[in-house]
Amino acid sequence: MCGIVGYVGQRKAAGVLIDCLSKLEYRGYDSAGVALFEKSGIEVIKATGRLKVLAAALEAKPELSATCGIGHTRWATHGAPSDLNSHPHTSEHVTLVHNGIIENYLKLKEMLLSNGYTFQSETDTEVLVKLFDFNYDGDPLCTILKTLSQVRGSYGLAIMFKDFPDRIYGVRKESPLIVGYGQGENFLASDIPALLKYTREYSILEEGQIAEVTEDKITIYDEFGNPTEKEHLTADWDVEAAEKCGYAHFMLKEIHEQPKAMLSTISPRIEDGMPDLHVKSLTDDYLRKVKRIHIVACGTAMHAGMVGKTAIERLCRVPVEVDIASEFRYRDPIIGEDELTVIISQSGETLDTLAALKLARAKGSKVLGIVNVVGSSIARESDDVIYTYAGPEIAVASTKAYSVQLAVLYLLALRMAYARNTLSQEKVQAYVKELLRLPELIGEVLEDSEQIKYLASQFMNCDDLFYLGRGFDYALSLEGSLKLKEISYVHSEAYAAGELKHGTISLIVEGTPVIALATQDDVFEKTISNVKEVKSRGAKVILFCKKGVSVPADVADYIVSLPVYEEIFMPMLTAVPLQLFAYYMAVLRGCDVDKPRNLAKSVTVE
Ligand code: G6P
Repeated sequence: MCGIVGYVGQRKAAGVLIDCLSKLEYRGYDSAGVALFEKSGIEVIKATGRLKVLAAALEAKPELSATCGIGHTRWATHGAPSDLNSHPHTSEHVTLVHNGIIENYLKLKEMLLSNGYTFQSETDTEVLVKLFDFNYDGDPLCTILKTLSQVRGSYGLAIMFKDFPDRIYGVRKESPLIVGYGQGENFLASDIPALLKYTREYSILEEGQIAEVTEDKITIYDEFGNPTEKEHLTADWDVEAAEKCGYAHFMLKEIHEQPKAMLSTISPRIEDGMPDLHVKSLTDDYLRKVKRIHIVACGTAMHAGMVGKTAIERLCRVPVEVDIASEFRYRDPIIGEDELTVIISQSGETLDTLAALKLARAKGSKVLGIVNVVGSSIARESDDVIYTYAGPEIAVASTKAYSVQLAVLYLLALRMAYARNTLSQEKVQAYVKELLRLPELIGEVLEDSEQIKYLASQFMNCDDLFYLGRGFDYALSLEGSLKLKEISYVHSEAYAAGELKHGTISLIVEGTPVIALATQDDVFEKTISNVKEVKSRGAKVILFCKKGVSVPADVADYIVSLPVYEEIFMPMLTAVPLQLFAYYMAVLRGCDVDKPRNLAKSVTVE
């Protein structure tokens, strides 16, 4: 979702801002713009569409020499993508960019109209910038405090005051914002990758904090305007981590990074052959007492939760509910004593997930975050965090982050099963041994990419596709289907294999593509029966199963054989060819793989 950057230093700001914005493209956007403190005054340049359009517009103006400015990529909420609606927005004294939604903007607009202000765009942000102008009293800090006290909603803002050309301001509520410390230059940004080329030293602004950024100093004020000290953090992601490194797309690179991400996430959590999550409060004693688990997340992270539910219930015999965060927060969920809420999020900034977390805590639940981005809002608000060590995930479609979320959920399930005595220590150790083979086995699956590419070429023109599976395979098929829809724009549905005949089988006709997942021994025959049902109605079937299993003749048109592996861990292997299938389908159909239309990486609005 919208990306914000700001720069004050000695370099030409236009180039730096474009460079930083390009590292935020992954967040999703449909227009972009910058504002620069030129000698003649503030210059605003905007462009609908991709960042390269804006970059070209800036290149056509070599006279731009500002060394201070702000920039923005916009993901449309109020008003269509257009030059008029895109940011920065300006008023007489103030220019700003905004990520979030101002909920009471209509009321504020009425007040401003009656005070003589006029509006050109449909955005809530134009209302905000005019409210700043209305409140402007020559003191930026006071103006910010006064204005924000009148605003309801969420925001990350980078602000320029015409009378103060040596500085920019940043402030946040619910939308992420960080400051970056350089040598003779300083930065503002929505996310760390934007800054990695220039600095690794940063601080995360907290709710209501205001940053005043000049070229040699960053001063942070609390929500009441008092200067406050801020911890400096060092990003351990290197520049390459945020570059494509020879891969055609970030998504492909991230799929290939999965063996490494798995190793980094699993191995530090194994002690003497046993899972040890290194989370102080998750003692065996505590895990024994837990009566129920709520897993809450959005999108791919929620699908990881579905696999986690199957694993925890099977191994630990503890009931698990999985909720979509935007539903959980409004359904008045029942959370009893000794119930644990597990919040899963790659970015750690998804607004609905964060709100669900706060609700769970307010209801007295202990909250465990499973988060990729260190220091993100969800990480900070959780009682305890288990970080997934996937490194930065840039492609909008999540791949490696999903896999490591699964790995953490399996580790949790295994430790809990040991604590509750539903698995013996020997059995847990045997599982852990298997888990440690995972990076190598994923490597093997990746070596078979060509077959998946070929299959995509056979199915690239289809309009609808079904994914079928039972148990773990059903949970995984939800994610396989989502991946395909997200990036290739092919409609697909994931179905519990036994459920298809209760209605949806009516959609199976001659040639309908079906991806059937049959990696689980206990339900293998049942799934094969379901595959026969669709095959006999003309479906064109790709069957995913373990190498060496005996598949009856004429059940599948194509078989993808996966390494023989512990079956409860199969989703972590099977996910890889499903990701590759979606990837190659999108490439062959000419889609913008890393930046699919209308989608955002980090969803910071409801
Ligand atoms: C967006 C992304 C998805 C992601 C979801 C949850 O919709 O496009 O890929 O799964 O948000 O994001 P989170 O950062 O909370 O895991």
